[in-house]
Amino acid sequence: MSEKATLTVGGASYELDVTTGSENEKCIDIQQLRAQSGYITMDPGFGNTGSCYSDITYVDGAKGILHYRGYPIEEIAEKASFVEICSLLIYGELPDAETLSKFQDALAEHAPLHTNLEHHFSGLPTASPPMAILSAMLNLVSCFHPDVLEVYSEGHGFDRTAALLLSKVRTIAAYSYRMSVGKPFNQPNPNLNYCANFLHMMFSDPYREYVPNPVIEKALSLFLVLHADHEQNCSTSTVRAVASSRANLFSSIASGVCALWGPLHGGANIGVIRMLEDIKSSGRPIDHYLEKAKDKDSDYRLMGFGHRVYKNFDPRSRILKNRLDELLAELNKKDPLLDIALELEEKTLKDEYFISRKLYPNVDFYSGLLLRAIGIPLDMYTVMFALGRMPGWIANWRELHDQRLRITRPRQIYTGSQERSFVPLEKR
Ligand code: SDX
Repeated sequence: MSEKATLTVGGASYELDVTTGSENEKCIDIQQLRAQSGYITMDPGFGNTGSCYSDITYVDGAKGILHYRGYPIEEIAEKASFVEICSLLIYGELPDAETLSKFQDALAEHAPLHTNLEHHFSGLPTASPPMAILSAMLNLVSCFHPDVLEVYSEGHGFDRTAALLLSKVRTIAAYSYRMSVGKPFNQPNPNLNYCANFLHMMFSDPYREYVPNPVIEKALSLFLVLHADHEQNCSTSTVRAVASSRANLFSSIASGVCALWGPLHGGANIGVIRMLEDIKSSGRPIDHYLEKAKDKDSDYRLMGFGHRVYKNFDPRSRILKNRLDELLAELNKKDPLLDIALELEEKTLKDEYFISRKLYPNVDFYSGLLLRAIGIPLDMYTVMFALGRMPGWIANWRELHDQRLRITRPRQIYTGSQERSFVPLEKR
């Protein structure tokens, strides 16, 4: 006997199905509510509303749990490469050696951009925002690969299209940096792994080829793995909404890039560094910034704090924080911003405002400090988040197609003017 919920409203009662997920999450399925009762539900920001049933990622915000296809993030963060995690998220299983090798070959094959696509960079101002370049170029890629426009999850070249996207987005990101500093593009090197190839395309110069640095490559892979997916966050929900109209993979992902850009979402990693730099340069005590963040009349927020789902620590933030000390030591670097970040976190843990609202450091709080340590320029941080989130977006795009989900079309409650007659201009 399946569990039911009874809603009594307007003098009538309605029975609604209750469904339970594999981690015992429960939901009241309201798909028939409007047809049965004429009522809709209202939940701006969808904080209490599920949009789909998904096998990809599981987050328990109360316990600080994050699983990719059942694997705890703590286990895979340091043990799995980003390419393995791409395969796991998109196809559901950790790849065996043969599968991984074929995937790596496909990524190497699709890394170069069409020469005419490279030329588009030359028409852009050097100070163009990297996220604007990324979203624009992702749509432009489909102009040079029209076959990607008709691809759905089963067959139709989905595997090739997914690998093409994962690889070209890395090249586009590196080229946007090279253009911003007025340097020539570095053609991808098929003999380098995913992270080493990115660093080569970013930092090799005619007089000095990028020298592979395993410490930096491992830190970059960790960063990308930690950002790879995170349930139905703002940008992934956007990718699903666009995918639900049966738009192609590239335009769906380009919409996710645009959603991620916002400072409340993926743009926060840049906001954190700017906040820490401001604290450092202003000479004001940290308490000044805590008070500002608490001031309801101010829009100021502590960037990198708070989360819609995590009401305990964000496990990704904890992994990054623990890794940072070692990384800086391995690179023989010190970063005064890390000391400020640690002091800021410590103060919030003792402050009633943050405790009562369960505001803890999220993935963005320490992630920028890792990128800073490995030499990624600040305006590329959100692009790096997008590179990491690619497999999660692709996996959700594929799952939506596999499940043949209906087009996304929420309802609303109209609160505007009631019917009225048109008034000609001369009488207004
Ligand atoms: C990401 O969803 C995901 O999974 C996202 C993500 C992913 O992997 O995809 O985890 C990545 O986007 C992480 C979040 C990065 N953004 C930031 O760090 C920006 C700062 N954080 C906030 O703006 C905020 O916490 C959000 C956007 C993250 C969450 O917003 P919610 O859930 O809508 O929470 P809210 O704005 O309703 O805040 C609840 C209360 C409010 O106070 P009261 O009205 O109850 O008095 O907490 C306060 C807020 O003012 N608050 C903060 C705060 N965050 C929330 N106050 C000060 N500083 C903050 N950072």
